[in-house]
Amino acid sequence: MNRQYTTVIHFKQSALPTPQTSFSSALKSNTRRKQRKICCFQTSDNRQQKFPHKPYKYHLPSSNPRTRTRHHSLQNPNRHHFQFPHCERKWDFMTSKTRVLVVGGTGYLGQHLLQGFSQIEGKGITSTTPFDLAFTHHSNPPPQALLDAFPHLLPFQVDLKTGHGFQAISQTFGRPDVVINCAALSVPRACEMDPAAALSVNVPSSLVNWLSSFEESSSLLIHLSTDQVYEGVKSFYKEDDETAPVNVYGKSKVTAEQFISEKCSNFAILRSSIIFGPQTISPVPKSLPIQWIDGVLSKGKMSEFFHDEFRCPVYVKDVVAVILALSKRWIYESKQTKVLLNVGGPDRVSRLQMAEIVADVRGYNPSLIKSVSASSVDRGVMSPADISMDITKLVRTLGIAPTSFRDGVRLTLETEAKSS
Ligand SMILES: NC(=O)c1ccc[n+]([C@@H]2O[C@H](COP(=O)([O-])OP(=O)(O)OC[C@H]3O[C@@H](n4cnc5c(N)ncnc54)[C@H](OP(=O)(O)O)[C@@H]3O)[C@@H](O)[C@H]2O)c1
Repeated sequence: MNRQYTTVIHFKQSALPTPQTSFSSALKSNTRRKQRKICCFQTSDNRQQKFPHKPYKYHLPSSNPRTRTRHHSLQNPNRHHFQFPHCERKWDFMTSKTRVLVVGGTGYLGQHLLQGFSQIEGKGITSTTPFDLAFTHHSNPPPQALLDAFPHLLPFQVDLKTGHGFQAISQTFGRPDVVINCAALSVPRACEMDPAAALSVNVPSSLVNWLSSFEESSSLLIHLSTDQVYEGVKSFYKEDDETAPVNVYGKSKVTAEQFISEKCSNFAILRSSIIFGPQTISPVPKSLPIQWIDGVLSKGKMSEFFHDEFRCPVYVKDVVAVILALSKRWIYESKQTKVLLNVGGPDRVSRLQMAEIVADVRGYNPSLIKSVSASSVDRGVMSPADISMDITKLVRTLGIAPTSFRDGVRLTLETEAKSS
């Protein structure tokens, strides 16, 4: 049962938290004076009780009190939410760290996510980062460059096909509060060649079963799906449009969505379009879209691009922002969710238009770009024609306005230029 409690905390007038002073510094300033410990709280039916556990002690002055409220969810004793009318909510209001597990943390999005979570600074009580971060790797040892960049990361080897490795996470890391599943066979041609492998990796049954093995099974699961669940015969698909994938990759993702919707009580499924952006700390083996176009065009030879395949490419840092926003909502508000979101950029562009924008940003000769139909090339896998997505629900739900394709290209190429 998720019982909500309200703790009444008394602050001395002269040491109230303000937008300039954080909650923790206000606490510190209070503790210098004659102190009285408050470790009782009011239940929703107005009874006074002691803390069921003591996350930390409040030493507060008794004179001239002001009250502020703190919401405490017994369902997850690691999460503590503070509400101050004139204080911005900050990660530093957490009393102990939130455990975040990135499954597939060695992949393109996984590494960007680990970087995104690591760069959020906690203050006061959680002075470094407000997260305990773990990630899974599969085919290779965890990348040294990633571990060197973020030494606090905990790596675990996991195989989603068998579930091997999850037990070790339970033993050393414990039950995660948030799990982001980025692991997949994400190359459509590879899925087409081995449909059984695609199903066994892309449908995360071992992950979901492991999560439900915890007595308290309220972790938030954020699962990455794809725009390729749509058939591709119209523009701007909405989340409640019918799914009709044309290839094995898309079919495995639809099966995964159905599995998660049936088995999980707290999840977000993100149907992502092509994710583009700078290279990862430890470079991924697959070619990245903007870097690939840039590489082709930089040779100065005539190159072909499809004029009839449309996508809404999304800048990788926007995907990270979406995942951080969903995580925050769960950590601070403790509201279980079941949400399905299209995650795309604001622009519907053909592959030809993508190349034209890269050429424009780089100053390449646009006449070297040749327009061809997707049907002129056999790629060994069916590719949906127009899977552009309507992202109104994403913008409305999370208040995030994704970067335009042109700006994302500029940011990507600038970052690559700086790191080379
Ligand atoms: N990138 C895009 O443009 C895009 C677009 C739409 C949707 N998505 C979806 O977004 C998610 C992340 O994509 P991405 O581009 O970051 O993928 P990625 O770079 O291909 O990374 C895939 C990850 O899955 C792991 N993995 C593969 N097989 C595994 C297994 N049997 N057990 C456990 N882990 C396994 C890999 O680990 P190892 O490397 O250690 O083997 C790697 O960490 C995927 O679900 C993908 O389908 C991506």
